[in-house]
Amino acid sequence: MIICAGSIFADYISKIDKFPKKPIKVLSSGIDRRLGGSAAVSAFTAKKLGFNSKFIGKFGDDDSSIFLRNEFKKFSINIDKSIIIKNCQSSQSFVIEDTKGERLLAAYNDPKLLKYKKLPTLEFRKKDIYSIDMRWINLATKIAINSKEKNIKCVADLDNFKNSSSISKIIKNASHPIFSEEGLKTYKKNKNFESALFQIFNETKKFVAVTMGSRGVYWVENNSLYHCKVPKVKTVETNCAGDVFHGAFASALSQNNSNSESILFAAATATLKCMKTGGIYSIPKMSIVKKFIKKLKITKIK
Ligand SMILES: Nc1ncnc2c1ncn2[C@@H]1O[C@H](COP(=O)(O)OP(=O)(O)OP(=O)(O)O)[C@@H](O)[C@H]1O
Ligand SMILES: [Mg+2]
Repeated sequence: MIICAGSIFADYISKIDKFPKKPIKVLSSGIDRRLGGSAAVSAFTAKKLGFNSKFIGKFGDDDSSIFLRNEFKKFSINIDKSIIIKNCQSSQSFVIEDTKGERLLAAYNDPKLLKYKKLPTLEFRKKDIYSIDMRWINLATKIAINSKEKNIKCVADLDNFKNSSSISKIIKNASHPIFSEEGLKTYKKNKNFESALFQIFNETKKFVAVTMGSRGVYWVENNSLYHCKVPKVKTVETNCAGDVFHGAFASALSQNNSNSESILFAAATATLKCMKTGGIYSIPKMSIVKKFIKKLKITKIK
């Protein structure tokens, strides 16, 4: 079972031709409502690829929460360790997007969601693998520490965070810390990515990776630097590519693939995702990923 813990969002999207110079009334060419949030999208990715997945996050009890919980139900993803908070709104983003993909996004978290401190009780079973994001930091820290104690794999999505002692604990304890480019800059104060990766490797003595959008993925293990190059493709929706990468990476690891095989698989899945619009509905299925994977290449850099 792939257990994804962290953020869940309802994204309300309105499309316009172009942004006006001043905030005036314009006509929308289309509206959409989508499920988002890193850990949630990772859970949908694992499921779409054919694996059993579970999501643990915090929901409100409003209309958005009903919409979100229905999406999990539709895909048969278990959410029974999630928390539902009464008289509270689920996290939501309002997005205005123009035809070039530029966007204005306002994200809202109900203070009650943030104040809720109780953590769900979890079993750490040998057959499970965890995938965590940094939006429910206390739960992520608990999972990273316990998974290390029990020798269970834990993939950490180090994106969208502020440095803290919890972040350091997660990087130290999670078996597979994977940064976004921005996340790595935040953690290692704008060092170039290569020296940042080697510095973290020297501190932790284990695998550490960074995803770099169209430049693919770089990682260090056994004191060597590797690169997974992704093919040049026509991208139409890069939003949530990182979340798809994490879900696919955890899925591949759960099948006892090596780190490099898992990177290859995850990068192929995420790149394919970028070629289609539709949020979680455009995550590719296994047979398509298996064909596409041949277009990706891994090289040892040093
Ligand atoms: N423009 C692109 N072309 C091809 N593949 C891409 C592109 N953008 C992303 N990807 C694929 O998705 C993976 C993860 O993307 P990225 O590094 O942008 O994640 P991120 O910064 O966490 O973004 P987010 O969290 O917003 O999805 C990349 O390693 C790559 O495989
Ligand atoms: Mg990300």
